[in-house]
Amino acid sequence: MEIREVAVVGLGTMGAGIAEVFARAGIGVVAIEADPQALLAGLGTLDASLARAVNRGRLDARQQADIRARVRPAAAFADAAAADLAIEVVPERLEVKRQIFAELDRVCSPDAILATNTSSLSVTTIAAASRYPGRVVGMHFFNPAPVMGLVEVVATVLSDDRVPAAAADLARRLGKTPIQVADRAGFIANALLLPYLNHAAGLLETGYATAVDIDRAATVGIGLPMGPLALLDLIGLDTSLSILEVLHAEFNLPRYSPAPLLRRLVSAGRTGRKAGRGIYRYPAAVPDGVEETAGADLAPDTVTVIGAGDDQEAELASALAAAGLNVTRNAAHPTELVLIVAESGKPVLPAALAAGRATEAVGLHLPGGLGNGALVELIATSLTSEQAMRAATALAGRLGMTIVRAPDRPGFLVGALLYPHLADAVRMVQDGYASPADIDTAMTLGCGYPRGLFELIDEAGAADVLAGLRAMYIAYGYPALAPPPLLAEHAAAGIDFAVAPPGKPATAGAGARRTGSAR
Ligand code: 3HC
Repeated sequence: MEIREVAVVGLGTMGAGIAEVFARAGIGVVAIEADPQALLAGLGTLDASLARAVNRGRLDARQQADIRARVRPAAAFADAAAADLAIEVVPERLEVKRQIFAELDRVCSPDAILATNTSSLSVTTIAAASRYPGRVVGMHFFNPAPVMGLVEVVATVLSDDRVPAAAADLARRLGKTPIQVADRAGFIANALLLPYLNHAAGLLETGYATAVDIDRAATVGIGLPMGPLALLDLIGLDTSLSILEVLHAEFNLPRYSPAPLLRRLVSAGRTGRKAGRGIYRYPAAVPDGVEETAGADLAPDTVTVIGAGDDQEAELASALAAAGLNVTRNAAHPTELVLIVAESGKPVLPAALAAGRATEAVGLHLPGGLGNGALVELIATSLTSEQAMRAATALAGRLGMTIVRAPDRPGFLVGALLYPHLADAVRMVQDGYASPADIDTAMTLGCGYPRGLFELIDEAGAADVLAGLRAMYIAYGYPALAPPPLLAEHAAAGIDFAVAPPGKPATAGAGARRTGSAR
């Protein structure tokens, strides 16, 4: 069926973005917003986005004017009468959505498709309230809608077959990649993203690490486009909280139970970027990285480097020597600082005690290896002095590394964020809800991950991810950290998940056997 005109109901940030996406694809848009203030704000968002594209040379003034002319603001549902598809993009309140669908049922032609952009509510429940439930479909876009390349198309048991197919075709016409998913809370992307964001908020709240360090571990350590706390602010803490509540109600697992910090910030009106303040303040006050350059003069002149006696230890010792330090690898030599090259999953304290210099000892973990700008986790044991931490910070700064501080617990910081996230993805496959390929597409196109979660597992090796998770599970005992059997099976069999990045054929079929190390 041909879609020539759409109605977008609700002109908040997402609604304005979705209206822009349709208009850019040459489709006429009726933008319906009953609240005149919200209508003005939504059109402002759309205009700002188009102006940004013009400034970046992505659109010329003529195209900008044409796109804008395709968007017709309206205050009443009656204006949706000619729409071939109407999509609601209003806050996540079931009653409001059902009311909107009742209005659309009244004014739209029975052939029109009714879509919901709900991020977590049941599309089936919304459809069941419609007069023609077969034409209701979920079309879930990602923020910022003009940029993110994914649309989750949600069919229900009530859907006519042609409807999800038409929604997927439409998504392709918009330049997006559709993924067909069944109606389950959070679909793919939010069901994986939100518990990861929630966990990051929990790490902040419990003092495990600072906000800046948590976000740096994700961006520099994992390579994600934004840190989880900055992303919470972008999505909105209120929206995130309501998605978590729905996920928690559906799955009843502690990992979805919202961090109390989120509730407190939302109650205080600190809902994120849109409020000018969430976890961070906006516009950002302090440029990232300032604190490392300050205090560089605290760097020691003499340092002991100890570790497992591997290449990384030797590489670090020579990098420090090249930076002008007097380096020894003998713990008995008196030096100002002891650096213990830490291994994932192994605590630093036993090595610090064995060296007999626990107060001067700092663990140093290099999740991505040594290199200018690469991430270094500096680990304080319960005996490490503040002075030793300052000296290690100054030294790592002198080597040009990006520093985060973490306690001496399994996973340190990058693994503490990543391993449970990977386990959730494996569990989703194990549950039969989605394939590794769909999950990787969802996270790369919906959330801008440079590599999918299964690509990350294959890169690290299922056995290493399993070992990391096991160490965390033994330490904490949380069910979310229990390694999923499917991961253990891949580790034992030595096989990859072998997902090709979107648009590229798989080089080895799923289940390809690993070569090399006996993982
Ligand atoms: N509106 C329109 N366009 C925008 C934009 C916005 N709000 N923000 C950025 N852009 C455009 C820029 O104009 C630029 O376009 P160009 O490449 O054509 O010139 C492009 O995006 C890149 O922008 P920048 O260079 O300014 O910034 P970054 O490279 O830092 O990218 C980002 C910004 C695209 C937001 C990137 O950080 C990212 O991918 N972040 C992850 C976002 C994410 O995870 N979204 C999903 C959230 S979950 C969700 O939405 C589901 C919901 O149900 C909760």
